[in-house]
Amino acid sequence: MSESWSPTSWRAKPIHQAPTYPDLTKLEETEETLRNFPPLVFAGEARRLKATLAEVADGKAFLLQGGDCAESFSEFRANNIRDTFRVLLQMAVVLTYGAAMPVVKVGRMAGQFAKPRSADTETIDGVTLPSYRGDNVNGIDFTAEARVPDPERLVRSYNQSAATLNLLRAFAQGGYADLHKVHQWTLGFVEGTLQASRYQDLCSRLDETLAFMEACGLTSDTAPQIRETDFFTSHEALLLQYEQALTRVDSTSGDWYDCSAHMLWIGERTRQLDCAHVEFLRGVKNPLGFKAGPGMSADDLLRLIDRLNPDNESGRITVITRMGAEQVEAKLPGLIRAVRREGRSVVWSCDPMHANTVKAAGGYKTRPFDAILAEVRAFFAVHKAEGSHAGGVHFEMTGQDVTECVGGAQAITEDILGDRYHTACDPRLNATQSLELAFLIAEQLKDERAQVRAKARAAAR
Ligand code: PEP
Ligand code: CO
Repeated sequence: MSESWSPTSWRAKPIHQAPTYPDLTKLEETEETLRNFPPLVFAGEARRLKATLAEVADGKAFLLQGGDCAESFSEFRANNIRDTFRVLLQMAVVLTYGAAMPVVKVGRMAGQFAKPRSADTETIDGVTLPSYRGDNVNGIDFTAEARVPDPERLVRSYNQSAATLNLLRAFAQGGYADLHKVHQWTLGFVEGTLQASRYQDLCSRLDETLAFMEACGLTSDTAPQIRETDFFTSHEALLLQYEQALTRVDSTSGDWYDCSAHMLWIGERTRQLDCAHVEFLRGVKNPLGFKAGPGMSADDLLRLIDRLNPDNESGRITVITRMGAEQVEAKLPGLIRAVRREGRSVVWSCDPMHANTVKAAGGYKTRPFDAILAEVRAFFAVHKAEGSHAGGVHFEMTGQDVTECVGGAQAITEDILGDRYHTACDPRLNATQSLELAFLIAEQLKDERAQVRAKARAAAR
């Protein structure tokens, strides 16, 4: 590493989006408490994810990263975790089977609490209070007491993350994710929709394939890949006191790992080269992501990649572009060309959510589902034209039957947004919209694969 790094070196750098804790002694005591808590993930698991992401960078797999915008204390229930997991499994099956490509599943779960905000304060009816920054910082209620940052919330979010991760591990490895159960993953309220019937068709074909495989001797007993799946966790590494406290030396390699999640990403608002978040993350060995909005130049991108991945290790960096449907074609090609020209290895992922946010008539923040699909389509089209691999998607969704993003097969309109608008921060895709997105991606991926095969055939001639 060019300059020396330690888990505390970020503290000497300018920092953005940091809460102002009134009681610093309490904060320090809480950090000490967290330092004594067990790691949530192991370094070996983060290494395995990195190796899998290297396959994605190489065009051989696809990254599916999704979950809540912000996890919250009030929505913490086993059923909510299960339902989000179910929808992610359904999406993964649509992609794996539909596009015949291995899918790396990464949840925005078990730690995705902290939120960057565009303004430090919020004003309602002439009253100005500090902004809500996520349940691990302060409360969402619009009262002066609730909005005071409280370090105790870090402990509560650690505990919630541990319980969430425990359940996710059980679901992924304990039989729930067995491919023989694909029919059972459909949520009640999705039944009867077009997406549900497309999914059932796919399941029937999958059943036939499994029967064929069984006849060949490949069963849940002999091939564990049928019975269980790998599921990884990720969140935005925003609250560095928390991340530092969970950063440990791996006894096998002697390297530092941030053991709060397998993968961490840096948000659009905290990716400045010489500031605290980049400083912290460059020193931990986990796979990393960062957001790239329309303002990111090719030079900025290369500098950030080199800072975070000076050895150009494959699987280390995922560039999560979030340009807005209208801007992808203008902004993305330059970034892809610069990365290729410099021989850098990255995973290209598309976040079609964060630059397509609008205010609806009733004051609700929403996202038109059409714009989300349009950004994904444009992302694939640009990669196709550039001959590079559209490696993944990053999105906000929930297994609950919410009305937060307008459009989709259920035709959610602006005037019914208020019916079931439950998000603690940004509008999420519901289960039906998520499935629709998965089918679109499967088609695009199939198309990409056909192009790759045609090229290979032409080259062999
Ligand atoms: C997010 O992913 O929730 C987020 C805030 O994204 P961005 O940093 O891209 O705005
Ligand atoms: Co968000």
